[in-house]
Amino acid sequence: MNPESNPSIPDALVQSLSPCRSAVALTGAGISAESGVPTFRGAQTGLWAQYAPTELATPEAFESNPRRVWEWYAWRRQLVTEVQPNAGHVALNQILEGFARHQLVTQNVDGLHQIAGASSVIELHGNLHRTLCSRERTPVQEVAPQASPPACPNCGSPLRPDVVWFGESLPADALHLAIESTQSCDVFFSIGTSGTVYPAAELPFTAKRNGALVIEVNREPTPITDVADWSFHLEAGVFLPRLQEALNRFRH
Ligand code: OAD
Repeated sequence: MNPESNPSIPDALVQSLSPCRSAVALTGAGISAESGVPTFRGAQTGLWAQYAPTELATPEAFESNPRRVWEWYAWRRQLVTEVQPNAGHVALNQILEGFARHQLVTQNVDGLHQIAGASSVIELHGNLHRTLCSRERTPVQEVAPQASPPACPNCGSPLRPDVVWFGESLPADALHLAIESTQSCDVFFSIGTSGTVYPAAELPFTAKRNGALVIEVNREPTPITDVADWSFHLEAGVFLPRLQEALNRFRH
């Protein structure tokens, strides 16, 4: 572990990245914080400091109060439609494109990586912009919000956001692909995640066990810091553009 609080990029880091051919980046709410999207575990402003997950982000909560759950997610969806990707999202795409093989894996449901131009994103926890029939589990195109929640046009069951709630499994294909990419990567970036929600939180450890270089970027130390080869306690929107510049200088 090499904790760094100086925003300059060490030459040794750039040199250790130069032989790497494949990269995986796992992102969490921290990368979108500088766009104005609240994180989950911030002490004052984090969503879980203000709202009880059990009342909003579980299948039981939806069953007992579908309107409240639907409206909370509609509020969050509105919030993310009003923000833009930040310098961290953009620089991360450029950093990843510098590797022959690369995979972006996110726990975020805001779609900001895609708006920033990411070519392929594994979404482990779903996406706020998509809607499912709660009974059939099939995707439903946006319907006029005639009710809260609206009814499935096919079977009349309430629609739900296509996000993973506590107690639910992650989408199997997405998880499989994330694990597979992680097992075979040369470098693994963990960016803006508290590393507390499994199975996503296992990925940096999987990468390390399989011999990858692990680089963490987070405002604060996390459980991932212990396994990281490099840990930078900085804003992603500050660190990632600097890393991108340093890699560009090295490659040209
Ligand atoms: P958290 O809110 O748990 O953690 C956000 C992390 O980002 C914290 O460790 C912060 O220190 C860090 N952070 C904040 N601002 C940052 C910045 N500008 N640059 C770098 N780091 C910053 O969010 P996640 O780890 O994404 O799941 O949470 C994981 C899952 O828990 C979420 O996907 C969500 C939640 O419950 C579901 O809803 C299923």
